Amino acid sequence: MEKKRDTWDSRFIFVMAAIGSAVGLGNVWRFPYTCYKYGGGAFLIPFFVALLTAGIPLMILEFGLGHKMRAAAPLAFRSIRKKYEWVGWFAVLTGLFVMTYYGVVMGWCFRYLAYAINMAWGNDTQGFFYNGVLKLSGGIGDIGAPVGWTLFGLFLCWLGVFFSIIKGVKSVGKVVMWTVPVPVILLLAFVIRGVTLPGAMDGLSYYLTPDLMALLDWEVWLQAYGQVFFSLSIGFGVMIAYGSFLSEDSDVTNCAFITCLADAGICFMAGFAVFSTLGYLAFTEGKDVAEVVKSGPGLAFVTYPLIINKLHFIPQAFGVMFFLMLLTLGIDSAFSLVEAGVAGSIDKWGLNRVSVNAIISFLAFAFGILYTTRAGLYWLDIVDFYLTNYGLAIVGLLECVLVGYVYGADKIREHVNRTSEIRIGVWWDLCIKIVTPVILLWMILAKLLNVNGIAAKLAGRGPEGAPWREILFNPPYEGYPAWAQMAGGWGLLLALFVAALIISSVKSRRDGNA
Ligand code: PHE
Repeated sequence: MEKKRDTWDSRFIFVMAAIGSAVGLGNVWRFPYTCYKYGGGAFLIPFFVALLTAGIPLMILEFGLGHKMRAAAPLAFRSIRKKYEWVGWFAVLTGLFVMTYYGVVMGWCFRYLAYAINMAWGNDTQGFFYNGVLKLSGGIGDIGAPVGWTLFGLFLCWLGVFFSIIKGVKSVGKVVMWTVPVPVILLLAFVIRGVTLPGAMDGLSYYLTPDLMALLDWEVWLQAYGQVFFSLSIGFGVMIAYGSFLSEDSDVTNCAFITCLADAGICFMAGFAVFSTLGYLAFTEGKDVAEVVKSGPGLAFVTYPLIINKLHFIPQAFGVMFFLMLLTLGIDSAFSLVEAGVAGSIDKWGLNRVSVNAIISFLAFAFGILYTTRAGLYWLDIVDFYLTNYGLAIVGLLECVLVGYVYGADKIREHVNRTSEIRIGVWWDLCIKIVTPVILLWMILAKLLNVNGIAAKLAGRGPEGAPWREILFNPPYEGYPAWAQMAGGWGLLLALFVAALIISSVKSRRDGNA
């Protein structure tokens, strides 16, 4: 007999969990920088267009698909057609591999939480991070042993993940009641602290001064879509799994709107925290804001500690608050990725939740050890690039095609309209069938192919006599050696694809009963 599917205790808890997954490190260290770099205030236009034409429609799609099929990604795609089950597994596996390194970043945060107590990073925060903490080796092939404290931090992160999802939506519901409001309150404290520092206004004017010309550049638009996909946790099967636990009469569309708008709002707010303090840093060092801006780990672990050093009023407290904020931001994104895999496996094999959780968490933890080594940051960088640029876009594209054309976008639309206050119209079908897939395909091609070079050659402006083979593709990412790009990039994607095919061909409990 089929056990009744667990459901969220309330719609509010579901929305909190979805917001928890969406709002992560990306909001703080990716959005503000992307906004600054691609047009400042003007970037908000493509960002909102991307949110409306791709973010919200895909969120409705993922919630709606999970809700309709009452299944996480693998079984949801299997319900469309048996032969597409692998798409669900590919999404889930890509997400789990994102988690292998997301956990390591959280491991660094744990270490920095301890360092913040006495601001152990000193004045050379850069040397401290790369040499002291990461013990970064000279090249990607020079791996060395795992760095003990990072490994311990990674272990702590996995412990947190394991216990957060131990009872599925029931335990997730309890955890997100803390891990969503706490970082938002801390972020608000940083905004208030930030804007009251000298130099803050300079920083903010870097962040928001609109460069309207940027709107003419297609790259800016692609960046906006990329930011929206990653930031909303779309394309890893997470939101399908979460949607599958919604009670049957839930208002999917409303929840999708709230989740997306909350995430966008927090992105925007994080920009104030980041750029006001960057303005302060530039002010104290007598530099231009452009010289101090950073994104990613460099912002969180090098620049921010430097700013904390310069605060006069209880800097240690701000240090602790900052890393606590990153940890609470990250943990609910982290366990959502794992839950997508756990829920998918339970759907397929009906196994006991604790064992599935333990096996998946252990395996992903073990893979993560690679990034705790001395070459870890290089591997993390490559894997992140390929998974978030290609993996995510491929899954998103497949999702749109399978739901839009094979299953029928109208069926999902009718399904969600049946229980939703806001009725979605045919515009949604258009977004799913045309706008989003075209953009995703373009994203993949623009990453892969040297679009500007090709255009120049076609227009007869290219370098004299350069053969097509040299012009066609973009140079390999960040100049890492070809073997490493193969292993951590294309090889990994291929391995995930093959693994997805194998898993989907393994017999499930449903085959037995069918
Ligand atoms: N959305 C998260 C962030 O902004 C990252 C994430 C992506 C989490 C995909 C889960 C799934 O950091």
